Amino acid sequence: MIITIDGPAGSGKSTVARKLAAILEFPYLDTGAMYRAIAYTALQNSTDLSDERALLALAGSMDLDLDCGPTHTRVRVNGHDVSEAIRSMAVSAATLPVAKNAGIRALLVDRQRQIGKKLGSLVSEGRDQGSVVFPQADVKFVLEASLETRADRRCQELEADGEDADRSIVMENLAARDRSDAKQWEPLLSSGAATVIDTTEMKTVEVVDRLAAIVRGYSVR
Ligand code: DC
Repeated sequence: MIITIDGPAGSGKSTVARKLAAILEFPYLDTGAMYRAIAYTALQNSTDLSDERALLALAGSMDLDLDCGPTHTRVRVNGHDVSEAIRSMAVSAATLPVAKNAGIRALLVDRQRQIGKKLGSLVSEGRDQGSVVFPQADVKFVLEASLETRADRRCQELEADGEDADRSIVMENLAARDRSDAKQWEPLLSSGAATVIDTTEMKTVEVVDRLAAIVRGYSVR
């Protein structure tokens, strides 16, 4: 059974996907971590982020390894665990040219499908999981929330990680990512293929319960 969760940064996708995967005892695939790992490595190697070919060459040559547990994703690049390092603001900003790179997207879409095939059942979270990577998914969700709420959540996460969070910079970063990311899940909205949930006024537990109920409803059909 394949469940996809797409939507903008800060909509609560990662937390909800992780919790839903734990309830269902399915592996959790955090596809954003793959884009982040490439952005992180580009920053480490001082790769010119505006050089599409250099970015693609880097992505193609990296040994990117994901350990998809039901409650965690550990990410290793060339044998080094980068799971925490890829969460910084600097890496978030550097994901923009990575996510826009058509060659990198093709590479990662292929890797994600291979992982899906190997795992069989999974909760896969990202931007294009229900639209591009797993169009055959059994249950598709899009989570949304207001920009203000998403900025607040992101600031809390950054502060919890010990990073200084400037709310206006976080909002700018989110708005810039929305502009480039939204087209990935737009087909799910226009086709009505996904259940859309606005999480602005909802607690995480409420969102998880709603998703779990929908998945259970699907399973007993
Ligand atoms: O979900 P996240 O913030 O970890 O995602 C990091 C970046 O990767 C973000 O800019 C969007 C991009 N991304 C994407 O383009 N497609 C995906 N399936 C997942 C993430």
